[in-house]
Amino acid sequence: MNGNSGLSRRGLLPLAMSALLAPAIGRAQGRPRIEVYKTPTCGCCGAWADHMERAGFPVSRHDLEVLDPIKTRAGVPAELESCHTAFVAGYALEGHVPLAAIEKLLAERPAGRGLAVPGMPIGSPGMESGNRREPYTVWFFADRRRPQSFFGVD
Ligand code: CU
Ligand code: CU
Repeated sequence: MNGNSGLSRRGLLPLAMSALLAPAIGRAQGRPRIEVYKTPTCGCCGAWADHMERAGFPVSRHDLEVLDPIKTRAGVPAELESCHTAFVAGYALEGHVPLAAIEKLLAERPAGRGLAVPGMPIGSPGMESGNRREPYTVWFFADRRRPQSFFGVD
């Protein structure tokens, strides 16, 4: 009788483990790669990339002394520029864009260039400072259109 229950435990445990792990692995594998372009000494840029990695995105980091050509390629309006420029699934991500806004972008797939958080608001991912938080707006930008408010963080 002991052998019997031992057998079923051995049979069930791997099943239970895979049921627990599958959602997390599936989500991580489903995330598209993020390519981050930043200057070599930018600490907050690296911290933002770390956030995205922890959220399950594969992240490639590219260090460049000058980011202007990348921002031009990404179509980032001058008034929306920030410290780093990233690309995901054909969209640009300028600055400290939060995870929830990226998930909304990937779910809705609007026509346009991408998202930007201009400046570097305190409390945005990679810009933590104790528990200080500045409210900020995530902008959606596109060619020949004024940037639109896409996501608000208060
Ligand atoms: Cu920054
Ligand atoms: Cu940055």
